[in-house]
Amino acid sequence: MNKNAKKWKTNKNIFITFEGGEGAGKTTQAILLTRYLKRIGYQVIFTREPGGETLSNLIRNIVLNKSLKICALSELLLYEAARAQHTKDIILPALKAKQIVICDRFIDSTIAYQGYGRGTNLKLINQLNKITSYRLKPTITIYLDIVPSIGLNRGIKQLHKDRIENSSIQFHNKVRNGYLIQAKKYSSRIFFIKANNLRKTQMLIRLMIKKLILNKRDI
Ligand SMILES: Nc1ncnc2c1ncn2[C@@H]1O[C@H](COP(=O)(O)OP(=O)(O)O)[C@@H](O)[C@H]1O
Ligand SMILES: [Mg+2]
Repeated sequence: MNKNAKKWKTNKNIFITFEGGEGAGKTTQAILLTRYLKRIGYQVIFTREPGGETLSNLIRNIVLNKSLKICALSELLLYEAARAQHTKDIILPALKAKQIVICDRFIDSTIAYQGYGRGTNLKLINQLNKITSYRLKPTITIYLDIVPSIGLNRGIKQLHKDRIENSSIQFHNKVRNGYLIQAKKYSSRIFFIKANNLRKTQMLIRLMIKKLILNKRDI
């Protein structure tokens, strides 16, 4: 670890989550932001949901496996189980060690996908989200908005679709609608970005993080 690495000025944790539909650019943009923040001297880790440690990675393989039939309730509980382990083993210790944590998907994904997409009870999801996240809320959430018909056909997505990506276009439209409702409801936490241009999107994200989180005005 770089011993000269900068720590942020306040005592507040910095937990940044990336949200959005398939192909919105979450992974790409989150990794670019991680590299950038490291380059300018911050201690930062990138992780993802479900994933980041052994149990969550195994659950990821199950939920994304196209050949499995998984009912809506099982799907919800699998994602929540993965979150509990990942939050406890990876996110919370990193925050405690004063690292900036950047996570590809978190609680808003469950609301959008399992709540609005699958139609599972939102109250139940909110209760489970609180428990499995240990009540941890993102400092800031970057929501990358994309029309599902475009996102699903970006990059390699069109060639290797997993179980979730393989769901109907109606499902993905409901997911997007869920995200839009969440973004409006929690507008002080969730930043809405139209994810059309890769470079412009990254510049906007950097600007926002520097202004709002790191309290710097220059890029
Ligand atoms: N803002 C953007 N505008 C256009 N294309 C983008 C943008 N961000 C990422 N991409 C491209 O979209 C594709 C899907 O990106 P990815 O990060 O895998 O999406 P996600 O993780 O949200 O499913 C990649 O080919 C990536 O280079
Ligand atoms: Mg991704």
